[in-house]
Amino acid sequence: MRRILRATIAVSLAGLAITFYLGSGGLQTLTTVEAKSLPGTATLSGTVDSSKPFQAGQVYIRNLDKQMLYMVYTSAGRFQAVNLFPGNYELSVRAKGLESDVQKLTLKAGENGPAKLSMRESGHDPSRNPDLEYRSFEEIYPPGPGLEVAKRTCIACHGPSFLSARAWNAEQWNAALDLMAGSGGTLGAMIQPKDLPPQDRETLLAYLVKNFGPGNKLRAVTVTREMPVEESKISKAMYIEYYLAKDPPGQGVNAAEYASLPGNFPWSKQKRVGQDVRFDPDGNVWLTDRGYPMRVVKLNPRTGERKDYVVPEPTNGIHDLAVDKNGMVWFGEHRGTSGTAVKHLNMLNPKTEKWEARYPLDPEGVLKSPQKWAQSIAIDSKGNVYVGWIGGGGLSRWDRETKKMTAYNTPGFNPSVYGVVADKNDNAWMAQWRDGKITKFDPKTSKFTQYAPPTQPALIRRLNVDSKNNIWFGIFSAGKLVKFDQAAEKMTEYTIPHENSQPYDVVEDSAGNIWIADAGQGGTLLKFNPRDQSFTYYPSPQRADKPKIQVTREGAVWYSPRSSQDYPGFGVLFPDMDKITTLAAYY
Ligand code: HEC
Repeated sequence: MRRILRATIAVSLAGLAITFYLGSGGLQTLTTVEAKSLPGTATLSGTVDSSKPFQAGQVYIRNLDKQMLYMVYTSAGRFQAVNLFPGNYELSVRAKGLESDVQKLTLKAGENGPAKLSMRESGHDPSRNPDLEYRSFEEIYPPGPGLEVAKRTCIACHGPSFLSARAWNAEQWNAALDLMAGSGGTLGAMIQPKDLPPQDRETLLAYLVKNFGPGNKLRAVTVTREMPVEESKISKAMYIEYYLAKDPPGQGVNAAEYASLPGNFPWSKQKRVGQDVRFDPDGNVWLTDRGYPMRVVKLNPRTGERKDYVVPEPTNGIHDLAVDKNGMVWFGEHRGTSGTAVKHLNMLNPKTEKWEARYPLDPEGVLKSPQKWAQSIAIDSKGNVYVGWIGGGGLSRWDRETKKMTAYNTPGFNPSVYGVVADKNDNAWMAQWRDGKITKFDPKTSKFTQYAPPTQPALIRRLNVDSKNNIWFGIFSAGKLVKFDQAAEKMTEYTIPHENSQPYDVVEDSAGNIWIADAGQGGTLLKFNPRDQSFTYYPSPQRADKPKIQVTREGAVWYSPRSSQDYPGFGVLFPDMDKITTLAAYY
């Protein structure tokens, strides 16, 4: 049997690290690996033992100075992490049902370790939310007419664990139904009048109050078939998360005018909520923060430096953002406390740090729906800006040459528009998520064309364009990945082989893999390889959905852990840490 390694010495030579493994018998192995750390950063290696066998233990390397986390997996009980900022850390590891103590350590530039960690039985599953009880669907949802209504409305969109994680009285459930049915069930509401006639609404309300009323033990639907982890495939992966700074007393979320506002997301203990990420031309990453006051946040991933920019109207809503070729940061106003206010497209100039442009998104009042929440944003190759209306059922287009905004009502049964992207021919594509269709808008003819995947009903959230101009999207409600070949007008569906799969966003990397942000089972990243049709699961550092993913040209997958309880912020998965040449993010 091989002896346990006693020392590891790494020598960096022009980006090539040569590692000598020394056992008691002297030099045993000479391994040349590609692993290298960027100048001035630290590497950490170590070993993990445990009272029980485990696979792909998750090693948490938490930087206390910069509010950051690095996470790598163990491979045959060993781990390595590269490109760590020198400083003060906490180190721990966990695997299913196992966890270690937390060790403090200080990392200096260059090689550190080997660290030694031991896991013991923890009695809890880290993939589960400790605040919830896990039960089967049948146990949580007793049969009855109320269940049928809940299934075709709330559960279809929110998944099976949304209603059960609440304990609301009739007034609170009624308010939720009002919110979802819109004022009078108008166009653009989440629930159309025909899906919730008054009789069904009463039945549903009674069902919700009876099963998820005051005193309800908060529950989530248990997973009977877990996603398989393939240690050998993910052993070189590394996650990094950069967290949003906590606001000091009297400032930000704690300022008098915002402190009394309800958190935008009841699940978060924090009032700051990261939502969507994008890269700028200088390698920085931008994030929208949906807490009050709403902000966009700039991260320099090379240093960990973060900077907040409060938006012009800090309670009027924010969701998605986009950065144009000149580095200008754009966003459309979503849903806030000033819910009926006019929604604008806003532009931040990061050079002057000023909001320099602001355009009403529906200047002529064209949109039919009284409920107006603008959401996703896309910029085409000429710099024209598109904003979709999830509440309002429209698409707005800002023309860069004329500076004119035009709003269009989108076709369909419920035209709520979720993701928006511009394709290689400068057409805009939308996911019309309640409608189960994707829709093309041709700006030359102002014509909309809809295409439906075979699986229906289909709730579709985000969509993306690949290098060949195919459109990819997930069916959130059915766990399917779909490719739409524009030239052949052909849909191909792939079944994601996991229970409760809820694909939120999908995007191609430069090697032709499709990355999937899957909100089912707590929220994680999956890689689909279209060549052998395999799916690989990369368990994430925290349980949280990732509504938008963006891939760098080197294949790093950026996201925001949106439903994070404790750590809202930025995140990135490097599938192969040996191949990292920069921490910066470039398209
Ligand atoms: C067509 C999809 C859809 C249906 C059907 C739907 N919702 Fe929603 N719901 C949404 C969206 C979208 C939001 C807004 C989330 C955001 O702002 O990002 C939302 C937000 C909410 C919120 C407020 C935010 C929160 O997380 O608490 C509640 C409460 C809610 N829904 C309850 C319900 C209930 C109860 C039903 C069933 C009667 C239902 N929804 C049906 C899509 C839907």
